[in-house]
Amino acid sequence: MINFANANFVTSLTTKNTGSIPLLPEIVFIGRSNVGKSSLINALVTRKNMAYTSGKPGFTKLLNFYNVDNRFYLVDAPGYGYAYKGKRLAGEFDAMMDSYFDNNENLLHIFLLLDPRHKPSKDDLDFINFIQEKEYRLTIVFTKSDKLNQKMKAETLKMYREYFAEAEIGYIFTSSLKKTNITILQDEIKQLLAELI
Ligand code: GTP
Ligand code: MG
Repeated sequence: MINFANANFVTSLTTKNTGSIPLLPEIVFIGRSNVGKSSLINALVTRKNMAYTSGKPGFTKLLNFYNVDNRFYLVDAPGYGYAYKGKRLAGEFDAMMDSYFDNNENLLHIFLLLDPRHKPSKDDLDFINFIQEKEYRLTIVFTKSDKLNQKMKAETLKMYREYFAEAEIGYIFTSSLKKTNITILQDEIKQLLAELI
C-alpha cells in the first residue's frame, strides 16, 4: 500500500537528481503554465497546499520534488511557454529540461497535462517531439475536466487519438477541483511502481 497523504516537499532542483537527495523513482508532471500541474499534485496527495499553486502563469520556476510515502517522488515541473529549439534546448528553462530528461534513470513516467478546451499549442507539440525521441512512457492528462461536458470530452479524445495515432499514449481526464479520476490516477501510479518490483 502507498499512503499518498504521507507526502512532503523535499527540495527544488535545476537538474535531475544525481544523489543530492535519496534516489527514488520519479513521476513528473509537465505542461504549459497554468494548466493545473501543482493543483493535480495536491489532489493526488489529498492536500490543499503542499505544492504551490497560483492564478498567475509561470508560478513554479524549479523542479520541485515531493516525497510520497518514501516510495517515489512527484516532480512538479515549471510550466513551459518557451520555444524548444530542436533536440537541444536553449535558455535557462530549456537547460533544466535538457538535464532532467537526459537519460534520467529514475524517471518512471511522464504525465503531460493539457487543457482539453484548446488544440495542442506549439509548445505542447514541441515538447511532445522533444520527448518522443527519448524512451519514456507518457500519459496525457486532460485537466480542468469540470469545464467540459460529455460531448466535449468525446471530441477531445477523438481529436488527440487521431493526432497521436502512431504513439502509445494513455489518456485520462481529471479535475482537481471536483476530484474527478484522482483515485484512478493514484491507481495508475501504484501500478507503475508495482511493475518495478
Ligand atoms: P505554473 O506553476 O504556473 O506552471 O501553473 P500550474 O500548471 O502549476 O497550475 P496551478 O495548479 O497553479 O493552477 C492554475 C490555475 O488553474 C489556478 O487558478 C487553479 O485554481 C486552476 N485550476 C487547477 N486545476 C483546476 C481544475 O481541475 N478545475 C478548475 N476549474 N480550475 C483548476
Ligand atoms: Mg505550478
